Amino acid sequence: HITKNLRKTAYISKRKIQSCKLFYSEDPVKILRARGQYLFDENGKRYLDCISNVHHVGHCHPSITKAAAAQMDLLNTNTRFLHDNVVLYADRLASTLPEKLCVFYFVNSGSEANDLALRLAQQYTQHRDVIVLDHAYHGHLMSLIDISPYKFRKLAGQKKWVHVAPLPDTYRGMYREDHPNPGQAYADKVKDLIDEVHGKGRKISAFFAESLPSVGGQIILPEGYSAKVAEYVRAAGGVFVADEVQTGFGRVGSHFWAFQLQGEGFCPDIVTMGKPMGNGHPLSCVATTAEIAGAFTANGVEYFNTFGGNPVSCAIGLAVLDVIEEEDLRGNATRVGAHLKDLLTKLQARHEIIGDVRGAGLFVGIELVSDREKRTPATKTAAWVVKRLKMDHQICVSTDGPWESVLKFKPPMCFSLEDAELVVQCIDRILTDTVTSPMITSQSSVNISAESSCIPLISAKSDYRMLIDPHTVIPKI
Ligand SMILES: Cc1ncc(COP(=O)(O)O)c(C=O)c1O
Repeated sequence: HITKNLRKTAYISKRKIQSCKLFYSEDPVKILRARGQYLFDENGKRYLDCISNVHHVGHCHPSITKAAAAQMDLLNTNTRFLHDNVVLYADRLASTLPEKLCVFYFVNSGSEANDLALRLAQQYTQHRDVIVLDHAYHGHLMSLIDISPYKFRKLAGQKKWVHVAPLPDTYRGMYREDHPNPGQAYADKVKDLIDEVHGKGRKISAFFAESLPSVGGQIILPEGYSAKVAEYVRAAGGVFVADEVQTGFGRVGSHFWAFQLQGEGFCPDIVTMGKPMGNGHPLSCVATTAEIAGAFTANGVEYFNTFGGNPVSCAIGLAVLDVIEEEDLRGNATRVGAHLKDLLTKLQARHEIIGDVRGAGLFVGIELVSDREKRTPATKTAAWVVKRLKMDHQICVSTDGPWESVLKFKPPMCFSLEDAELVVQCIDRILTDTVTSPMITSQSSVNISAESSCIPLISAKSDYRMLIDPHTVIPKI
């Protein structure tokens, strides 16, 4: 009865006000329990979870629940009392980062971490303006909506102190895979922007970017980009903030942090963390240098956060780090991610609609295009694939990118080789049906009603589309 009412409410809310959106809004899923990479609904039906990067070491991992329960049973206070957990945890995190990132602020969400990063940058530099990447999302607080083009374009618009640099997307952006040095070329765009900002008499406090832009479409930053941008931004008196909320804690396999993919020589001034950090428990953090932290403290205003750094959160954080090591989850991400990418690349040879396959570790994207030459985003087919994967195969995948044309994978890190093979087989089947079924050969006739509410309604007049690729033909949404 409750489930029936829930579905009715979901249906009503879909038709009326929808500030809270569900996956599969016309046929929502009610999950009652989960383990590892699997979700189970009220009828015991099992779903393979390809998108919950929050449940990093696996849903309801027994080591995490045990550590949480044990500390809950003993004590939970705040950082006004001494406690070993917060020190031990900061120490463990420090061992994963370059030495200069040695001060840690524990907070409760990715948004809180980014908001604090913004304060730190502005206080340290005594400048106001921020450069962000196009289509970025950095959180739901007002300060972060202001620096998230993905949101502010649909709301109050761009503030004078916010400046948008092109997304360094070598598949769809202004410099592509055939460019001799896209990292330098995209970084030079940031330099141009800095000069423009200075021309207006304004000053840069920070460059904010995800180490692998996710909402932007699972983008892998070109080689050399971050170091060059950091050089330009620092020369302008600003700092480099790496948002690792989605990508940290070994997701990319080869490294603990995704910013490390940019080479040993590159180190951000501030790193923000969140989602996977507490395996579902609200736990996040800002790591920075002693100089930046010193400037923040120098104004005499204390930083207090009621829940941030409490003994339970830190016990959970420590347990997450233990599991990553004990179960070699970075090794697993490397092996399974490489296998998944390899299988998808083979699939690309057989399906014209797969325009690009990209990723690092278990952060993988498949970009669907209705025309490979023009790279026309196949938005409707992407929504169709998501729907069929859920309905026919109980596999949860979602889309991202400016046109919601990128199928994204960021599963719990225990995702297996067999899981990867199953998903690719199912996508193969669906894409084969897409070609043979007269119902879905035409982009305009695809029935995507279940997912349509998830597709952002970008105005056809939006300048933003032109920024991404002036040659792209926009499909009807
Ligand atoms: C890159 C990035 N930064 C920050 C946030 C905000 O995190 P939270 O939802 O925990 O506030 C998100 C959330 O999706 C995110 O993807």
